[in-house]
Order: sequence, then structure tokens, then C-alpha cells
Amino acid sequence: MTNIRMKSNTSMVLRGMPKRRTTTLLVALCLVVAFIGCKHEPLFAPVVDGGGNGGNGGGDDPINPCDPNLVYFEQQVLPILISNCAVPGCHNLPTDDNGGRQITSYSTLMNSDIIDMNDPFGSDFWEDINDSDPDDRMPRPPQNPLTQGQLDLIERWLQQGAQNNSCAETACDTLNVTYSGTIAPLVAQRCAGCHGGGTPQGGLNFGSWSVLNSVAADGRLADAIQHVPGAPAMPPTGAMLPDCRIQQFLIWIDSGAPNN
Ligand code: HEC
Repeated sequence: MTNIRMKSNTSMVLRGMPKRRTTTLLVALCLVVAFIGCKHEPLFAPVVDGGGNGGNGGGDDPINPCDPNLVYFEQQVLPILISNCAVPGCHNLPTDDNGGRQITSYSTLMNSDIIDMNDPFGSDFWEDINDSDPDDRMPRPPQNPLTQGQLDLIERWLQQGAQNNSCAETACDTLNVTYSGTIAPLVAQRCAGCHGGGTPQGGLNFGSWSVLNSVAADGRLADAIQHVPGAPAMPPTGAMLPDCRIQQFLIWIDSGAPNN
């Protein structure tokens, strides 16, 4: 009601004014609107790798160089692929069985011809990891499918152009290391593909805390992640875990590998 009344009042005012003044008023109004519009235009084009930390150039910040809006292949996507695809006998080596498709690095992934950069979501890679038919799905049963969180991350990486990018964290939280907050997510990202599902590698299913606790207690976990000579190096493919992750594992092991 109020709105309608105000609207008609305005038009009555305009109608009551001489024509020239009405035109001047309208021109002035347009200028104000245009000026307000201009004020909100950015003065510079946004930095391509920016957007993080509430402003331009999050990726240029020396303290926190990683942009939370970008997905980094080396730290976020590759560990998932190593754990789920580079399983022994699957895509750890190029063989006749896997059509020569080795998935252990950016270059082997791209050389395996399963991602068409012109149509990433029509590619075999994306279709296979999303297939609802277990006979066609990758990874094949009895391995578990990728989690929704992992699929979402890979989707964003593909949307951002499937780049071979990398950004190492500079800060390492060694003060608040817990099983639920630190170790379990780390294992889910880097170990669970091989050490989960129906036939876990080495007979070790780390989906359960007690199994991880037992290899922590007998020393095998610390030896494996530090690549102690004579022990199986873990993960067996790709780079060693980043220093920070090894430190977090060791802190947790030293405190008795609790279920906290
Ligand atoms: C690509 C597959 C793969 C990934 C990823 C992987 N593992 Fe393993 N893991 C294996 C295999 C295969 C064995 C059995 C090796 C053997 O007995 O020689 C094994 C064995 C182990 C063992 C037992 C070693 C021993 O001395 O018997 C530990 C501990 C272990 N893995 C920890 C990890 C941790 C922690 C991660 C994640 C950071 C991880 N693994 C990621 C394949 C994998």
C-alpha cells in the first residue's frame, strides 16, 4: 500500500514540474546511478591466482601462499589418485591389462589419454570414477568408490583446467595433533584407497583405528612413512609424505597413537 502511494506521489511531483526541470532531474538521477555503478567496478582486473583471504592475490601472500579457492594437483588430487588408482596390479605401472594407463604423476595421467582437456566431463576418467555400475566403476570392487568429497575436489580441479599446480603449506600444526582431526583425514586422503575396501594391501585396513594403532605400536608405521631401509616404503608410489605429515604421524605415535 505504502509503496503504491509513494510511487503515485513521485509521478504527481514530476507531472507538476515544468518539462525542462523534469528532464534535468532525470539526467542528474542517471548520472548519480552511473557514478554509484562505477564506484563498485574494480580498478584493476582480478589477479588470476588470487581471490583467497578476502582479496586479490591470496596466492601471493608469503605467509599463506595457497589460495583456498584453487585445487592444487600435487597436494590435493595426486595423493587421492596414488592411493586409489596406483594400487599394485591396477595403475601403478603401464601394463597390457590397464591399456598402458599408469596413474602415478601428472605426466603419466595426461599421457594415459583418459582426460580430454576439451571435454573433461565427457572423458573416460570422469565417467569411470562416477559410474554407478560397479562392473564399470573405477576403482573396481572390492576397492571402495571415491568418496563424494574426493569427487567434488576432482570436479573443481577439472573445472579449473586440470592444471599441474602445487602449493606447499608453510605452517605446520604440530601442537594439536589428534586422531580424528589430523591422522584420520590424512589416512583417508593418502592411504585408504590401498588400505581399505574388501582386499586391503598388506592385509591392513586403516578404516579402523585399532589396525592403525597396532602398526603404530609395533613400529611398522613409523618405519614405513620414514622410508627406513628394509621396511616397505609408504606410500609405495610417488613422493614421500611431506615433512609436516611425517611429523604429525610421529607425534601421534609417540603419544601412544590414541583414539582422540
Ligand atoms: C598404492 C598403494 C598403497 C598406498 C597408497 C599405501 N600403502 Fe601401505 N602398503 C601397501 C602394500 C602393497 C603393502 C604391503 C607391502 C609389503 O608387505 O611389502 C603395504 C604395507 C603397509 C604397512 C606394513 C609395513 C610392514 O612393515 O609390514 C604399513 C605400516 C603401511 N602400509 C602404511 C601405509 C600408510 C601410513 C599409508 C599412507 C600414508 C600407506 N601405507 C599407503 C600399499 C599401499
